[in-house]
Amino acid sequence: MTIPAGAAGARPAGARPADATAARGYRRAPEGTHPPLRFAAYRATGLRAPSLAPVVLRQRLTEITGPLLTGDIGPSDHDLTTQHAGEAIGQRIVVFGRVLDSDGRPVPETLVEVWQANSAGRYAHVRDSWPAPLDPNFTGGGRVVTDPAGHYSFTTIKPGAYPWGNHHNAWRPAHIHFSLFGRSFTQRLVTQMYFPDDPLFSQDPIYNSVPDANARGRMVATFDLDATCPERALAFRFDIVLRGRERTPFEEPHA
Ligand SMILES: [Fe+2]
Repeated sequence: MTIPAGAAGARPAGARPADATAARGYRRAPEGTHPPLRFAAYRATGLRAPSLAPVVLRQRLTEITGPLLTGDIGPSDHDLTTQHAGEAIGQRIVVFGRVLDSDGRPVPETLVEVWQANSAGRYAHVRDSWPAPLDPNFTGGGRVVTDPAGHYSFTTIKPGAYPWGNHHNAWRPAHIHFSLFGRSFTQRLVTQMYFPDDPLFSQDPIYNSVPDANARGRMVATFDLDATCPERALAFRFDIVLRGRERTPFEEPHA
C-alpha cells in the first residue's frame, strides 16, 4: 500500500508492485528501509508473520475510493494533555512535522493517528498490567488531519520506557506509534517515532529490525528548540516521507 496512490487504481492480480512503481517514475526505497515481517530477535513476529506467500487480491472500487477517513476529529484530539479534567503527568511535548511524498511535496488531508504509553511507560489498555502507575488524566490516543502544506502537530506527554518480555531485561525505547491513512481504506501506513539519543536503542529488536542505519535514523525525531513553547512544552520534529530514497520505515514492506 502506498499513500497517496494516484495510483491507487486497481492493478491486475499478480502484477508486480515494483513494475508499477517504476512505470510511474517513483524512486523506490533502497533495500533495508523496511523491517521484514519475520525477524528472529523480535519473537512475536515468529507467530504472526505469514508462512505462505500472500495471495494478491484485486482491489475493487470499494477499497480504492472510500471511505475517506478524515471525519469526526474532536476538539482535544490534537492535545493528549487536555482530554480529561486534570493535568496529565509528565514532560509536556509538542510533536510536529510534515507528511511528504518522495519529491518533498506536501501530502494534505491525511489522517495521522498516534497512540502511546504514559510518562511511566504504561498503556491505558486492559492487556497492559505491569506495575507502573496509570494516569487518570492521560489516555494516550490522538488524531489530526494534515493541513494543505502537509503539517500536523500534537501536544502530548513524553512516554516512558516499558519492559515487554521479548528477551531478558527487554525494554522498549520511548516511542510513539503513528498510523497514516490516505484516501481510502487500503492506504494505511504504520510506524513508530523514537526520541534522540535513547540509551535503549542498542537492545531493542523492533528498532533494529530496520536493516539500514540511515533508515533507522529516519524513525528518530529531532529536538527543535525554536519550536518549544516557553514555560510550557519541549518540541520534537518528525517528518514522515511516504516513498522514495528518504522514505520513513514502515511496519510492512510496501511497493
Ligand atoms: Fe508501544
